[in-house]
Amino acid sequence: MGFLPEPLEAQELNARHADKFKKSPERVLLDVILVFKDVFSDPQLKEKRKQIKQLFIKRDFKSIFTDPILLPIYAVEYLPGRALCYRDIFVKINELCNFLEKGGDIMVLGGGNGAEVLGISAAMCTFEQPVKLTVQDLSNYGTLDTLVGSIHQTYGLENLSVESLIGDLMDESKVLEYSKIFKQHGLITAMFLLNEILTQSKKSFVLLITNLVKSMKKGSMLLVVDSAGSFSEFEVGASDKSYMLFKLLDAIQGFKCLASFDSVWYRYPKEVEFPLQLSNMRFFLRLYQKI
Ligand SMILES: C[S@@+](CC[C@H](N)C(=O)[O-])C[C@H]1O[C@@H](n2cnc3c(N)ncnc32)[C@H](O)[C@@H]1O
Repeated sequence: MGFLPEPLEAQELNARHADKFKKSPERVLLDVILVFKDVFSDPQLKEKRKQIKQLFIKRDFKSIFTDPILLPIYAVEYLPGRALCYRDIFVKINELCNFLEKGGDIMVLGGGNGAEVLGISAAMCTFEQPVKLTVQDLSNYGTLDTLVGSIHQTYGLENLSVESLIGDLMDESKVLEYSKIFKQHGLITAMFLLNEILTQSKKSFVLLITNLVKSMKKGSMLLVVDSAGSFSEFEVGASDKSYMLFKLLDAIQGFKCLASFDSVWYRYPKEVEFPLQLSNMRFFLRLYQKI
């Protein structure tokens, strides 16, 4: 267990950021989220956060992600820690950083809360090539437009465009539709999503992964990040043996693994201040390339 290694290129990128924004990357990223000040000052905030935590413990994801009252709270609660971590990933993994620098189309699966959008924006804020994000999610959080507005105000980023696509990835009738969209993207991300889908239905999980492997064009990449803890353990077949989600993914034919970390930490810098308690994150990471 440890941290993602920091290549020289990441240090250079941070130096370019400091030159352009005169504040630390973490400070600038968190300032973007301050646009949601109404959520932070909601008198019911504590109660609603508790409710979300309890639903997570029960693995009752649907009750969180379909409740219009809990959704904006979830979005703002998890956005800071996740977006900081995702920036770190996109800056430190060379293949991802190079992708952003060259420009291209990214599909973000289950990304309606905006964590990937903010993390990626922060990582590419000194790059100039066009990047288009298609943000797919089951839920409409109602917060993405405000977040994207704040991102453009803070970072400029005329080269970034964001499109939202609401739909259920487990919907069997949409396999062909998704297949066409997967084909069009050079990078697809699934962050803290596959675990949820596998918990709900093994069949849907297999269908989604099969569709990804079959549809993605050669050379395109799939980034998977998810919990490194027992949340990602699953029993397979009739045996009582359980496997980590990444073991199931590693066994898939058709993907080459470009980056692999079974358990790493992202720890936010202690000096940054924010209205909500920030969380450190422990996760596993896989970056696959379609061969
Ligand atoms: C734990 S959240 C992770 C959000 C974001 N990716 C992140 O890392 O912060 C899981 C997200 O996946 C979405 N989701 C869950 N099941 C889904 C499905 N079947 N189809 C599409 N999105 C789904 C949820 O609505 C939620 O936004």
